[in-house]
Order: sequence, then C-alpha cells, then structure tokens
Amino acid sequence: MPEEKLGILIPGIGGAVSTTFVAGVERVRRGLSVPVGSLTQLGSFTKNNEELPVSEALGLATLDSLAFGGWDIFPENLHEASLKAGVLKQSDIDKVKDFLEEITPMKAVFSKEWVKKLDGTHVKAQKGHRALIDALKEDIATFKEKNKVDRCIVIWCASTERFLAPSKVHSSLEEFEKGLDENSPDIPPSMLYAYAAITSGVPFVNGAPNLTTDTPAFNQLTEKYRVPIAGKDFKTGQTLMKTIIAPGLRARLLGLQGWYSTNILGNRDGLVLDDPGSFKTKEESKLSVLDSILDPDRHPELYGDFYHKVVINYYPPRGDNKEGWDCIDIFGWLGYPMQIKVNFLCRDSILAAPVVLDLALFIDLAHRKGMVGIQKWLSFYFKSPIHNKGELPEHNLFIQLNMLEEKMREMA
Ligand SMILES: NC(=O)c1ccc[n+]([C@@H]2O[C@H](COP(=O)([O-])OP(=O)(O)OC[C@H]3O[C@@H](n4cnc5c(N)ncnc54)[C@H](O)[C@@H]3O)[C@@H](O)[C@H]2O)c1
Repeated sequence: MPEEKLGILIPGIGGAVSTTFVAGVERVRRGLSVPVGSLTQLGSFTKNNEELPVSEALGLATLDSLAFGGWDIFPENLHEASLKAGVLKQSDIDKVKDFLEEITPMKAVFSKEWVKKLDGTHVKAQKGHRALIDALKEDIATFKEKNKVDRCIVIWCASTERFLAPSKVHSSLEEFEKGLDENSPDIPPSMLYAYAAITSGVPFVNGAPNLTTDTPAFNQLTEKYRVPIAGKDFKTGQTLMKTIIAPGLRARLLGLQGWYSTNILGNRDGLVLDDPGSFKTKEESKLSVLDSILDPDRHPELYGDFYHKVVINYYPPRGDNKEGWDCIDIFGWLGYPMQIKVNFLCRDSILAAPVVLDLALFIDLAHRKGMVGIQKWLSFYFKSPIHNKGELPEHNLFIQLNMLEEKMREMA
C-alpha cells in the first residue's frame, strides 16, 4: 500500500523560517543536505535497553510523504521568497528551484491592526470573521484535494501579532463564537486560522508568541473536534541557551543576581518586533522562562531577587544572523560575585527549521494516536509552553526532553 501523504500548511509560508524549512526538507529529500538539529530525523531513544531511531520506531510520516502549502501577505513563490529572506545561499536554493517555484502562497487573512510594521498586498477580500474563516477552510479543503494528501497539519510561522491579554471573548467557546458573529476586535487573524484548522479536523501548532490557541475557548474547541494543539513561540537562539545554562546553575545551587539579554536582528521578524506592541508579546514569552527553572519560592536566598531584562534591537545589516549577548551575574560560596558572558552568533531560521519539521511530524502522530488538546510533551520546542489550567509550564530543557522521551517510549 502506498504511504499516506501529509500536508503541512503554513501561515507565513513566505517568511524566513518557512522558506528555510521547506527548501531544507527538499534538499534533504534529494540527498543534498543532512537534517541537522532534527530529533525526528537524527535522534533515538531507549526502550527496554534497546536504542530505537525516533522516526521508524514511532512510524512518523516520512519526508517523502510531505506536501507543502500556506498563506502569506506577499505573493512571491517560494523560490523568490527564499532569496528575499536571505538565509540560505543562492547556490543552495537554486538546487531546489524547480520545487520551490511550484509553491505559491494563498491569499492571507491579515490586518495591519495586529502587525503594524507590515503592509500586505496579497490578502483576502472577504470581510468579517466568519467569511474569512470559511475562506480559510475552503483553502484547506482545496489544498488537500489538489495535493491528494490524506492528512494535514497547520503550523503558524507568520509574524508576531501585537500583545493581547485574554478577556471575556476568549473565556469560553460560547463567548468566542459570539465574538466571531459580532466581529470582535479582540480576535486577531491567528485565531481565525486556528479556528479554521481545528474545525476542519486539522491540528494546529503556534510558532509565535501570540495568544492564539492559549485560551479556554480553544481548549473547548479542541475537545469538541478531537484535535491536538501545541505552542507557543519556537525555542531557538537566546532562550534555548538560557534554558540550557539556568538548569546548570540551579543544579549546583549557584545564586543569580541578574540576567541581561540583548540582541541585534535585521530580518523581517526583527522589523515586526521593532513595534512595541509586537515586542511586548515576545518579551512576555522570553521573560517567563527563568522563574520556573530556578524556583525562587524554594530558594529565596539564591533566586529571590534577580533582575531579568530582555531587549531586541532591529539592526538591518545583520539580516537573519542574530547576535545575542547575555550578561549573567551570579554568586557563589559566601555570596562572592562572578560573571558569565555569552555571545551567541546564531542563525535564527537555521535553528527554527528543524523545530518546525519535528513539530509537524509529532503533532500529526498525536492526531493519529487520538490525542486531544494541549500536547505538553512537546514543550521541549517552545519558549512559552501552553499548559492546562492548574498545571505549571515546564521550561527546563532537560526535564522537557525527559517528558518527550517518556511519551515516545509510551507510543513506540
Ligand atoms: N526564527 C526563530 O528562531 C523564531 C523563534 C521563535 C519564534 N519565531 C517566530 O516565527 C515567526 C516567523 O519568523 P520569521 O523569522 O520567519 O519571520 P518573517 O517575517 O520572515 O516571516 C513571517 C511571514 O509571515 C507573513 N505574515 C504576516 N502576517 C501574516 C498573516 N496574517 N497571514 C499570513 N502570513 C502572514 C509575513 O509576510 C512573512 O512572510 C515570527 O512570529 C517569529 O517571532 C521565530
């Protein structure tokens, strides 16, 4: 029997992360590159003292079975968009030019109200929340039919929307649907995509820090449609490092006085985050990680009073090659101060692409296994893991890895 096909649908498919992901998968399929950074492709885990390769042991969708599509506010095909993103070298992109040229974004649901720094031209003309959701649902159905895919997932790789605090309209499915009928201004485009996906029976992953599915309304919706979700905000550069270093300090009971993180970033994501509204969404996500790892309530003498600051500066000359500086003021025996400096010259989209791949394959697996709602075992991949009411988010990368491996053992 031929292998079933999996469709990966991406809001923001013309962006840096998406194009690096899609071009990368095609290069790997053609034997031109190694999928570095992907646990599903290169990783293994142990069960009953046996070492098992992740993809085979879990029966994940293979790279050959994947089809790609999505939406963007710019109409360029993925070859043009990859060149514009400036992450991969033209010579690397051109080897898969024929494939990338075939993928053209569908018209987006977009409102400048939510992403101040962008002006979209390739946007849907429909007006009103319900009409836009219907149009997105039709896109999903058409994509499935055209590409002859058996299943789909949606993964949000579009720009960060401005900060939105949860309010009454997000508090239950009933309120939310009333909000849809009334075109509530507290329902951003990302929620319309998520609603369209979930009500089409399609799992949804949120790679940005937007509120999106992190609400009681969406919890109820996923229960109703029996669909898994995961989010939010891919854990890549500076926060990845933070969640590697902080557990080490905590393990050795070294104190923390302050952690100052600053970045320069020159891609479109950096431009979007230059707007204070979008930055606030990101800041909340980045700031949340240290408390849960260090547990100040348990050790007020070590972590009761540390100062944590995160800054992102838009600096066009660097493009996608972010440079991050961390200045970490710690203290040891008898309170004597010490400093750690981390200067991470990373490539944001290079770190994010394998995360997109792993999440797409894992959320599809979760769906096939009948898992519903928030998938906490995927916290490993997120800066702000969404979690159920009454639970605490887990930020420690090593505990997150344990959770992931536990789940893999269970499912193998
Ligand atoms: N690169 C990383 O390491 C990383 C880490 C965590 C989170 N993220 C998040 O991932 C997202 C993508 O990052 P990027 O570097 O690719 O940014 P990008 O600006 O290159 O790409 C975002 C794309 O989304 C499009 N877009 C904006 N609003 C849209 C909408 N409503 N519908 C459809 N398309 C829309 C834009 O036109 C753009 O092409 C951002 O939200 C970013 O904060 C990235």
